[in-house]
Amino acid sequence: MCGISAVVGMKNISQALFEGIRNLEYRGYDSCGVALMNGRGLVIKKNIGGVEEFFRKEHVLEISSQVGIAHTRWATHGKVTRNNTHPFTSCDGKFAVVHNGIISNYRLLRNQLQKEGHVFESETDTEVIPHLLEKFHKETKSPEAALVKTLHLLEGSFALAFLCAHDPEQIYCAKRESPLMLGIGDEIKFIGSDFNAFIDYTKNAVIIDDGEYAVISRATYVVKNAITGEEIVKPITQLDWDSETSKKGGYPHYMLKEIYEQPQTVSNVLDLEEASLDELAEMIHESRHTHFTGVGSTYYVANFAKYVFAWLAREFIPATSSDEFVSLASVGPDNLVMAVSQSGETYDTLTALKFAKASKAKTAAVVNVMGSSMARLVDKVILQGSGPEICVISTKAVISQMMVMTLIALRLGLRKKVLKKKAFERHLADLGELPGIIQSILNERSGFIHRIAHRYAHIKHWLYLGRGMYYPVALESALKMKEVAYVHAEGMPGGFLKHGTLALIDENIYSIVFIPPREDQELYQATLHSVEEVRARSGFVLGIHFDERGKNKDLFSEELILPAVSPLVAPFIQLVIGQLFSYFTATTLKRNVDKPRSLAKSVTVG
Ligand code: G6P
Repeated sequence: MCGISAVVGMKNISQALFEGIRNLEYRGYDSCGVALMNGRGLVIKKNIGGVEEFFRKEHVLEISSQVGIAHTRWATHGKVTRNNTHPFTSCDGKFAVVHNGIISNYRLLRNQLQKEGHVFESETDTEVIPHLLEKFHKETKSPEAALVKTLHLLEGSFALAFLCAHDPEQIYCAKRESPLMLGIGDEIKFIGSDFNAFIDYTKNAVIIDDGEYAVISRATYVVKNAITGEEIVKPITQLDWDSETSKKGGYPHYMLKEIYEQPQTVSNVLDLEEASLDELAEMIHESRHTHFTGVGSTYYVANFAKYVFAWLAREFIPATSSDEFVSLASVGPDNLVMAVSQSGETYDTLTALKFAKASKAKTAAVVNVMGSSMARLVDKVILQGSGPEICVISTKAVISQMMVMTLIALRLGLRKKVLKKKAFERHLADLGELPGIIQSILNERSGFIHRIAHRYAHIKHWLYLGRGMYYPVALESALKMKEVAYVHAEGMPGGFLKHGTLALIDENIYSIVFIPPREDQELYQATLHSVEEVRARSGFVLGIHFDERGKNKDLFSEELILPAVSPLVAPFIQLVIGQLFSYFTATTLKRNVDKPRSLAKSVTVG
């Protein structure tokens, strides 16, 4: 999965193209390339490495052009080499194509094209597209007709954009199952994998749907159905994201900035429309079975929700990783499938929702990106309003999603009369305190967490233990550690430890234990048992707890004491600690925090 940015304007567009593709770098950063139209025809530049480095080394900003496309790659087909970098051109050099997604029948197409004399330079699936365009252009003499014929042949999921020397003032694009949208400015038009490609220039977007293609020029744009060729009048979506929020704003990394935005993003969730949350609670109430799904961090949010719904609404709702959903879940008209996704574009989660739809189940989603595929697909969407999350590692989106799920659970609990009005209001008041508590944790504890992260940055393996709601917190914190610091961390329920893993424990094994407030008596005691089990075998324990200083003297090897909070708020606070610990471990180890190796933020391929 990759990022696509394209611009056509009145003046030189290379700066706008640079900003657009740089803002999409979270989608992949193995290699970068551009195709620009200038007086002499198509200029192609590409190389491995990140966007800024590429633009600097290749002097792209010095090329004067009013029409250009750019691409940042996350390799799927073919190694990270210059030859495999987009854009790809046709044999005659008249077409330059960038693509995101997978052309599943590319081998067949490539063989046929090679037999017809086309010469390929890369190992990618994408390269068949410029050759097909060239072939059909020879027949039709029209880039648009060539595009339509090409689209009929392509199988798989894709978003693509191309420049054509036969029609130098327009850019063509098409979409099937990979995100793509247009940015509509005065005398300037954009194409982007998402809004970040043009948010600095315009807040007017047109979202391209599956099976559509579009042609943009400086002054106008047109969207058409790829099968019937009919023009489609599309609504303009007004973006409410602020371009400033996408900037680093003085923080060394987006990850830290986004961790520090959590008081605000949690407040945004607390301000969500109550009627909308009630509507979702009602859908859960009415369905015979509900399923939660997500993948990566959002799977852990779904797991967290499982515990919160069990507690607050006495409702058991299984959570299934969306990459496994189709093999596991059997759903029908009386079921609800509810997904969680930051991007709203993740292939696995989208596939689970499509499967649910095809099975006639009701669908819902908690999503951060408005206008995303999931937001448009489901029967009911809750937009969590966290603003752009740029760091590949998800932080503020996760905590906000946990909050959305908790609010729905509370409302369902009230609806089912599992919760009395008084208890409901007390919980709501507790949650209302969360933004302030996170803020004080960030202000007062970051320094200490930085120090201990520094002290233990040499540790190669961590065990993250938690019970109940703290188990998904342990899983998510361990995932942060793996993703950003490349340090092995395994999340495990405390109760599971004695069923095998205990054999591993000695003085070389380091554990972090997420301990609930003492008020949560049973869970608290059970978690302390896990601590004792580890300590009895000379294992190291970093205990994160809410007790007063000195209370658990000698129990922990190292402790991090948090201010007393209510049991409903405590897991959120623990997760903030998990995030910060990973962040500071990663900075100590000098990792590429915002763009960890081998990862991409929005995985739109299966
Ligand atoms: C990728 C990212 C993860 C993310 C997951 C789900 O795997 O690397 O960090 O949690 O996708 O993404 P979504 O946008 O659906 O929340």
